[in-house]
Amino acid sequence: MEVVIAAPDELAGLAADAIEQLLAAKPTAVLGLATGSSPLGIYDELVRRYEAGRLSFAQARGFTLDEYVGLPADHPESYRNVIDREIVSRVDFAPGAVRGPDGLAADVVTSCAEYEAAIVAAGGVDLQILGIGSDGHIGFNEPGSSLASRTRIKTLTEQTRGDNARFFGGDIDLVPRHCLTQGLATIMSARHVVLIATGYAKAEAVHHLVEGSVSAMWPGTVLQHHPHVSVLVDPAAAGRLQLADYFRSTYAAKPEWQGL
Ligand code: F6R
Repeated sequence: MEVVIAAPDELAGLAADAIEQLLAAKPTAVLGLATGSSPLGIYDELVRRYEAGRLSFAQARGFTLDEYVGLPADHPESYRNVIDREIVSRVDFAPGAVRGPDGLAADVVTSCAEYEAAIVAAGGVDLQILGIGSDGHIGFNEPGSSLASRTRIKTLTEQTRGDNARFFGGDIDLVPRHCLTQGLATIMSARHVVLIATGYAKAEAVHHLVEGSVSAMWPGTVLQHHPHVSVLVDPAAAGRLQLADYFRSTYAAKPEWQGL
């Protein structure tokens, strides 16, 4: 697990560098796309590079992490619409190249199993972009989630619903109670995980993620078992890291040739 502490725009640039290098080496790459506010700087930077002709998503595919259950298809906060708005419609993904869990599926269990199979059929996720919740969730794997979980239905915690009320006019009652999410084992199957977190509200979750015991109570800690994780944090989100000085000096001494 590599931890990089830097300003948010620098972090977005580093993640975009990794994606640009991946797409140059493998134009058919499979990207794992997160919603929420954390990756927005990355998506803006990818759009800038796309518009500058530096990269293309024309042959790439994408899978989103999660979806609210029951939001109408045209709801602006359904993650399908959010990801279209924030990245897919702004670059040259082919129609249908980005999929997400179906929050309106009549048969949720079958639909989630099909989603898992689609990721496998695509060859697996090459690079997964992640945020982290203030309660330590990744995807919508809330505390108590099985570390071996696959895509399934989950119930959001009140903390997450409160955190996300800002997207629903500040009204927690408008935030759905249920979601479909890739499981922790699904996320662990990605070949490279790039997690970005900013702001002091994430500092406790980042401390547990990097320095805590692996536990379902802090689901992101499962990533300590992943061989290739880049944790990108601003100084506020790094505010509770005991090893912050070590991470800063390690990154400062990093060989130039070594990307994320
Ligand atoms: C979003 C997702 C969530 C968010 C997390 C942080 O697809 O899976 O885990 O990454 O809730 O949300 P933000 O980035 O809005 O703080």
